[in-house]
Amino acid sequence: MKFENKVVFITGGAKGLGRAMAEAFLAEGAAVAVNGRNKDATAKFEEDFKGQRVLAFNNDITNFEAMEKTATDVVNAWGKVDILINNAGIVNPLAPSEKIKKDDFDKVIDVNLKGTFYATQAFGKKMIAQKSGRIINMASQVALFGEKGFLPYAISKSALIVMARELSYEWSKYGVTICTLAPGFIKGGMNEGLVKKEVFVNFLSSKTPLGRMGTVDEVIATILFLASDMARYINGETIIMDGGMTGYTQEGLLDFISKAKT
Ligand SMILES: NC(=O)c1ccc[n+]([C@@H]2O[C@H](COP(=O)([O-])OP(=O)(O)OC[C@H]3O[C@@H](n4cnc5c(N)ncnc54)[C@H](OP(=O)(O)O)[C@@H]3O)[C@@H](O)[C@H]2O)c1
Repeated sequence: MKFENKVVFITGGAKGLGRAMAEAFLAEGAAVAVNGRNKDATAKFEEDFKGQRVLAFNNDITNFEAMEKTATDVVNAWGKVDILINNAGIVNPLAPSEKIKKDDFDKVIDVNLKGTFYATQAFGKKMIAQKSGRIINMASQVALFGEKGFLPYAISKSALIVMARELSYEWSKYGVTICTLAPGFIKGGMNEGLVKKEVFVNFLSSKTPLGRMGTVDEVIATILFLASDMARYINGETIIMDGGMTGYTQEGLLDFISKAKT
């Protein structure tokens, strides 16, 4: 088992992609602690994995003190923390930027950027003290180019890409490395409702060179790789897994020229 004796903490680990990550790390022998605001989800997580090395916390990552206490509780329970997955995140109600509401903007920045930093600092301090640790941020391919309607989400996620660069400079000397995963549109998690409608699946698939959305399994495979020793030299880096969508243009110049010739 790849993660035997490892301690993993996953923000937003009781639902969506985070829960799938938690299951995968458990199956690979890790002790897994998750965090989320929804008490039913964290209680179900504990119930589903009763008898295994699991912990669940009901904290909002935007609560700085709560994240500090959570990090201390995890280390008190299991003696260390090897891997932090900054998975918790929200998307703004999609709207043109001139119409985005202040509260929606603030909420996305609070959770995706500020909350992620609070968790990173709280767990990072434990990792610095133990002189080892791996941090993985969940960003998004939307952070890398313009996608109408996503402004606060895109800004917050691109900040995580910079955060990984910055921290790799600062924390590598303590044995703490960090990287970011930027997935495209995945068939699961926050898209669960959307993908029930074929019209959305077809639309998002048509925007992707591979002709389909990504799967939860594909996210998990990349997360396990990035958390493993095999990826130890990947530091400060962002891995894009979007089926080629980042290179997408409405109509390629070559296609346009070819059409013009006919
Ligand atoms: N699904 C995709 O296509 C996709 C693509 C690219 C990137 N991502 C990123 O992947 C991550 C997981 O997304 P998902 O699709 O699994 O979404 P999801 O199903 O909506 O899950 C989001 C998770 O974040 C937690 N969360 C939200 N706000 C929180 C807060 N203030 N404090 C603590 N936990 C909080 C939620 O738990 P509670 O509600 O219980 O707090 C939930 O567990 C996100 O960062 C997302 O931006 C997803």
